[in-house]
Amino acid sequence: LAACGKKESKELVMATNAEFPPYEYYDGDEIVGIDVEIAGAIAKELGLELKVEDMAFDSINVAVDSGKADIGAAGMTVTEKRLKNVDFSDSYATATQVIIVQEGSDIKGVDDLVGKSVGVQLGTTGDILAADIEDVTMERFNKGTEAVMALAQGKIDCVIIDNQPAKVFVEKNEGLVILDEKFADEEYAISIKKGNTELLDKVNKALKTLKESGELDKIIAKYISA
Ligand code: ARG
Repeated sequence: LAACGKKESKELVMATNAEFPPYEYYDGDEIVGIDVEIAGAIAKELGLELKVEDMAFDSINVAVDSGKADIGAAGMTVTEKRLKNVDFSDSYATATQVIIVQEGSDIKGVDDLVGKSVGVQLGTTGDILAADIEDVTMERFNKGTEAVMALAQGKIDCVIIDNQPAKVFVEKNEGLVILDEKFADEEYAISIKKGNTELLDKVNKALKTLKESGELDKIIAKYISA
């Protein structure tokens, strides 16, 4: 992109954290998922080639801010705090944090979390939300799967994570269940360097085209059964 300064690039570089099925995850050596396909479709609209860079979740917006990546696409929730460092595109999905427990757990809802150990992925909205709950022991993991693994092994009492990855993780781990009680709705959007309105406008225009053509719904339906 021209925004890179010196060299005119034909690539759209997407920073992500490929530990978040069905939005981004490894299929063999390849990173696939909803965000990868949406970003690919946006790149196509812009006449660019998509390049996906996998990194720690809390490095994504740093990469976007420094110009190492053009966009951050990682099931990333729009928050006031993040808006101080990056701009966000229009939303392309709604999500919510949920609580995963072992079957038969005495945790039935948010009120039962007092005094419990809670696993989260470092730097996520689940992390922020759980840290606000009174008297919990926070266990922060680099990957959501590591938190779920610790729960399955009985090392922690629950995991707070986004609803769609939660579904995937629970399906893969017998004995784990998602509680009915949910937290507030969150909006997923694409992060872009603050002030780069040119790219922001282009991404929003491409997103609008994908929404109107039904392509966005098609991509989502490929990974999430209604
Ligand atoms: N939606 C949550 C957040 O924005 C979690 C996103 C985690 N994404 C990832 N690719 N690991 O904090």
